[in-house]
Amino acid sequence: MSIPHYLKFSDFSADEYDYLFARTALIKKKFKAYDQHQPLVDRTLAMIFEKASTRTRVSFEAGMYQMGGSVVNLTTGDSQLGRAEPIEDTARVISRMVDLVMIRTYEQTKIERFAEFSRVPVINGLTNEFHPCQILADIFTFMEHRGSIRGKTVAWVGDGNNMANTWLQAAQLLGFTVHVSTPSGYEINQAVSGVDSTCYKVFQDPMQACAGVDLVTTDVWTSMGFEAENEARQQAFADWCVDADMMQAAHPEALFMHCLPAHRGEEVSADVIDGPQSVVWDEAENRLHVQKALMEYLLLGKA
Ligand code: CP
Repeated sequence: MSIPHYLKFSDFSADEYDYLFARTALIKKKFKAYDQHQPLVDRTLAMIFEKASTRTRVSFEAGMYQMGGSVVNLTTGDSQLGRAEPIEDTARVISRMVDLVMIRTYEQTKIERFAEFSRVPVINGLTNEFHPCQILADIFTFMEHRGSIRGKTVAWVGDGNNMANTWLQAAQLLGFTVHVSTPSGYEINQAVSGVDSTCYKVFQDPMQACAGVDLVTTDVWTSMGFEAENEARQQAFADWCVDADMMQAAHPEALFMHCLPAHRGEEVSADVIDGPQSVVWDEAENRLHVQKALMEYLLLGKA
């Protein structure tokens, strides 16, 4: 029997997302009512962090404990990964001891190699190429505030990075459009997401990308792993700050999202991220709820 993994957004079908979003709503409602939901008693999640995290660490760890399970946390510095043990050997060993693995690492190929040798489901907690758990939370957040995302338009302003690639995969699967505006030299690479060109449009001017859209979203100018490029990026991205003018160009009911952490005055102005159209705190909280639904689904299937 094949083992289900969640390594990129396109690993699941639209029907599976319908189920996950409905399940997330139920799990969140129970959480808010202090109604215990513990389908994962005696199950263990191993988390491997090769990059820093606040939201991913807390949401997976709290989520697993809330569902009755337990968690083991590993970093490169405190495991044999930092001493060059092959990822395949690490996968063989860890997956004999736990029920589920979440990994945050650099290249997507690394998590794919881990999954190939794992006996248990593997979840992508961010790679250089994709961040599927974040987009899962973002779309659930959009649905909570505005209903279905099908037929809507999302503006991606900034780096053609892992978030942008994942938004494109989601657009193709769930039937919405992404307006992408990146500085020259930081464009999306269509081959990474593997989507066809019907689900997105490219704009040189970020203001034009935002015109009439239902959601404006962005990310830091320098993602983890690209720190050496920081100075060049500060200059290249100067016109890609989501500000009040860009939000004004969007639909009057448009939302603003940012996966966080944010740098006010760089990729987003303070009045936007702290303003009335911003749903970034709901977005962050929803990491907890969507990932509980995801872990339950990977381990137990549909309820
Ligand atoms: N958005 C996100 O993944 O946050 P962390 O880097 O804090 O986990």
